[in-house]
Amino acid sequence: MLKKKKILLCATGGIAVYKSAELLRELFKRGADIRVAMTKNACKFVAPLTFETLSGHPVSTDLFALTEQAEIPHIALASWPDLIVVVPATANIIGKAAAGIADDLVSTIILATKKPVLFCPAMNVNMYENAAVQKNLAGLASMGYLVMAPGYGQLACRTEGKGRLPEPIDIAEEIEYLLAGKDLRDEHILVTAGPTQEPLDPVRFISNYSSGKMGYALAMAARRRGAMVTLVSGPVALALPPGVQFIPVKTALQMREAVLKNLKGATVVIKAAAVADYRPAVCEKSKIKKSDGEMMLPLERNPDIISEIARKKGKRTIVGFSMESDHLIEYARKKLFDKGMDLIVANDITEAGAGFGGDTNIVRILDRDGGIEELPLLSKLEVADVILDRVKKMREK
Ligand code: C5P
Repeated sequence: MLKKKKILLCATGGIAVYKSAELLRELFKRGADIRVAMTKNACKFVAPLTFETLSGHPVSTDLFALTEQAEIPHIALASWPDLIVVVPATANIIGKAAAGIADDLVSTIILATKKPVLFCPAMNVNMYENAAVQKNLAGLASMGYLVMAPGYGQLACRTEGKGRLPEPIDIAEEIEYLLAGKDLRDEHILVTAGPTQEPLDPVRFISNYSSGKMGYALAMAARRRGAMVTLVSGPVALALPPGVQFIPVKTALQMREAVLKNLKGATVVIKAAAVADYRPAVCEKSKIKKSDGEMMLPLERNPDIISEIARKKGKRTIVGFSMESDHLIEYARKKLFDKGMDLIVANDITEAGAGFGGDTNIVRILDRDGGIEELPLLSKLEVADVILDRVKKMREK
């Protein structure tokens, strides 16, 4: 989703610079055009050739090397990108930028740019906690620079504490967030995701194969576009999208309670969760022991959450999902009206590339006017953006 975005990666001299190479790959994978500038000390940890190979462009290292074969003149690097990311940002570059010192290529670019600059500090915990470094970080923030908090954990100097470079994937997500248009900034979007688990005893439950990927993609895309996001999620094995209010639940009844409790401020509700329609009528306190004969398991209906919120809809926009193995359009249209939704996103689980588990989906979006938008095979994040485009259009009416 960083297609056509120009990013200048400035690497400074900390051991975490090897992770900047990983970040470069992640940004490249997302379609960004990347150039790299390195300090002399950064080059001691990782050779410029690594970054040249990964970015496909010469790396700039020297402010005065006019003969360097860069396609963009050194100082023009300050105005070329959409965003500059300083990764890792050492205490030294943080101090220099905070004080307005420009004594090498990277510090000069930072001083010469009017583009957003994101610092990703990484250093020894004592250095990070040092009063001068903290004062400099606060100074950077007060001047409008962006600073990503370092993580806690094992540091290269064999100590433990705050000072780890955030994971490259998290830095990439922060960059996506910073560069995305904020066209949903007036919306509060409540998303449900994942399966529900309906227990029958302390060790067993009824559930389904939902991975939560579609709902998490919706939450992530909505947050990137500036919406306030509340994510109510059943149990999944996914990383939590940053910047969202997260409410974990297990059962359909818990999901209902969480949705109703958080409905008040929501302007849009997107129900991507695969809620179990039935739950065991009784959840035994002790583990059920096997016996020789057959076993009957009485089931009770779970409440239909989306129908319930549609009844108290107000000015909200309500989007549901429909996963079918046959009669896709017919069943989806029936649900759209029966459940009182504004839009329904239908997918056929028998189609390769669609449905549970994978990173892609093939969907049709049905509206109440009889419209059917057929989308090709797309990543779930791309599908999420198309759904949000439709939601935005409806909100504007
Ligand atoms: O009827 P079906 O389960 O196929 O409907 C799917 C849509 O209804 C999804 O948006 C799902 O999140 C929602 N749903 C719900 N509560 C249920 C069952 C489904 O909100 N108990």
